[in-house]
Amino acid sequence: MKILLLGSGGREHTLAWKIAKSPLVKMLYIAPGNAGTANIGENIDLPVNDFSVIKQFVLEKEINMVVVGPEAPLVDGITDFFEQDIQLSHISVIGPGKAGAQLEGSKAWSKKFMQKNNIPTARFLEVSPENMSEGFKFLETLKPPFVLKADGLAAGKGVLILSSLKEAKDELKNMLNGKFGAASQKVVIEEYLQGIELSVFFVTDGTHYRLLPEAKDYKRIGEGDTGLNTGGMGAVSPVPFADAGFMAKVEKQIIQPTIAGLKAENINYRGFVFLGLMNDGGSPFVIEYNVRLGDPETEVVLPRLETDLVEIFKAMAENKLDTITMSFLPQTAATVMLVSKGYPEKYEKGKTITGLESVNDSFVFHAGTKQENDTVLTNGGRVIAVTSLGHSMDDALAKSYAAIDEINFEGKTFRRDIGQDLKEYVTG
Ligand code: AMP
Ligand code: GLY
Repeated sequence: MKILLLGSGGREHTLAWKIAKSPLVKMLYIAPGNAGTANIGENIDLPVNDFSVIKQFVLEKEINMVVVGPEAPLVDGITDFFEQDIQLSHISVIGPGKAGAQLEGSKAWSKKFMQKNNIPTARFLEVSPENMSEGFKFLETLKPPFVLKADGLAAGKGVLILSSLKEAKDELKNMLNGKFGAASQKVVIEEYLQGIELSVFFVTDGTHYRLLPEAKDYKRIGEGDTGLNTGGMGAVSPVPFADAGFMAKVEKQIIQPTIAGLKAENINYRGFVFLGLMNDGGSPFVIEYNVRLGDPETEVVLPRLETDLVEIFKAMAENKLDTITMSFLPQTAATVMLVSKGYPEKYEKGKTITGLESVNDSFVFHAGTKQENDTVLTNGGRVIAVTSLGHSMDDALAKSYAAIDEINFEGKTFRRDIGQDLKEYVTG
């Protein structure tokens, strides 16, 4: 089978690594990829949002399957583009069509979907410029902090959490006046949820589903969960508080009604679902849906997956996910992200990375890197994720931190407290 994987981050390097292990794969192309994926398959410089350019490439190379890493091509309809094109419709695309991608592409749509399907989530109101005063009134009924979300995709920056009512009202006005461009023409105001967050992933063919390992990610730049939000600074899997009782509630109260709800809307969803959940005293609430894998969660989820991922994809494409048995390694996986100094604000690129070859006991997943001759250079805010497997979380973390000592680039920045908040939940 010939596979084209779209994307260029740590998630995609990990996907490429896992896909390439499958005996079903004859050739793997990654567009555009990074210095890590270049060692696994062939990087191709294609724009992931230009479907006609992708079409040409897919036909020329006789690609059988397209795996979509990031959300934007899904929200823009790449799956529908393939299904509707007579030359492409036989090719499987792993990822939902435009309708299903609204779960991530429109916060208002996803909140209404949850409400309709009785899926536990925070109380909310959808606001547009016409009913801003209703928005103010709803805010007055809530207790601080106040949560405002741009309806559309806003590069991970569209959620504001504000401590005073005045700030919340001012920001609501700013958002509706275009603070996030078209993405905040509509805004969702939400009640603030208490508890501890985790990420749960499943794959579905629209009828059946299979869970992947769950993970906890660390979003803030600073230790102790302080400072600005980032794409993610590290992750751990499994999550000790996601015990069998909790996960049974997630399946019954969230996953099964999600699949039934999509079916009821006539949405044929084939792909990953990423549930951003809050665990409030043992009860799960959906903070958000994503229609892709998480980053850096993928860097701990896939190393624990023993099942052949391409077999899973093939079964999804054939509506036979019920034939797949999932198997996970019992070990803990921990990843720590090395980022550029200044990230998530301004940072420099093009710094030489050294020491990668000295890492033996961990996986080095590239995020923002590029190869120039024999040198690997930084090429993004998040640069490298170092993942280790261990018999305990401490063991996995110790291996990752030891590997990090070997890797150097000017401005290397990382959090030293990944996983520390989970210690109180670890038993035995
Ligand atoms: P989202 O993009 O919807 O995942 O929101 C980004 C982050 O904001 C989440 O990971 C949470 O940490 C936080 N957040 C979003 N919505 C809520 C909520 N209703 N209550 C508490 N925290 C929230
Ligand atoms: N780590 C969170 C995300 O991928 O959205």
